[in-house]
Amino acid sequence: MAVREIRVQGDEVLAKKCKEVKAMTPRTAILIEDMIETMYEANGVGLAAPQVGILKRLVVIDIGEGPIVLINPVILETSGEQVGDEGCLSVPGKAGQVTRPNYVKVKALDENMEEVIYEGEGLLARAFCHEIDHLDGHLYVEKVEGELHDVAYEEEEFEEE
Ligand code: NI
Repeated sequence: MAVREIRVQGDEVLAKKCKEVKAMTPRTAILIEDMIETMYEANGVGLAAPQVGILKRLVVIDIGEGPIVLINPVILETSGEQVGDEGCLSVPGKAGQVTRPNYVKVKALDENMEEVIYEGEGLLARAFCHEIDHLDGHLYVEKVEGELHDVAYEEEEFEEE
C-alpha cells in the first residue's frame, strides 16, 4: 500500500465526472488499498478517487466504524435535514456550513463487485453525499452557506455539528 498525493481545489481533475468501474482489476484493488491508507494518513473521514487523480466512481469512507468501500455508488433515498460544518481534504484548512439530508440510503458495489446497500444517518449521511458529489466533479464549497472559515486542524475532513 502507498499513500497517494491528494489533489487540491484548482486541480482540474476535481471538476471532472468520473467513469463507472466495470470490473475489479489488480490495479483497482491497489487503488482502493491506497485510498484507504491515504484517507487514514490524512485523518480524513472519506476520500473519492478523483482526489488522488483517478477518474473512477470509487469512494472510501470511515467515520470511525471501519472502512466502507463504495464502487459506482448511487443515492437511492434521502430524508430529513442536517446543518453543519463540512471540510474536505482537497480544501485544506477550511470548513463551511452545508445543509445535507440527515438520512441517506446508498446502493453500490463492494470490493468483490457485489451489491451492497448502506443506510447512514448524521455524519455518515453527510459523508455519502460529500464523497458522491466528488464523483460528479462537485466540491462542497459550491454548497456552502455563508463564508468558508479557517479550521485549526486542516487534516479533519468533517466536523460534527
Ligand atoms: Ni472532499
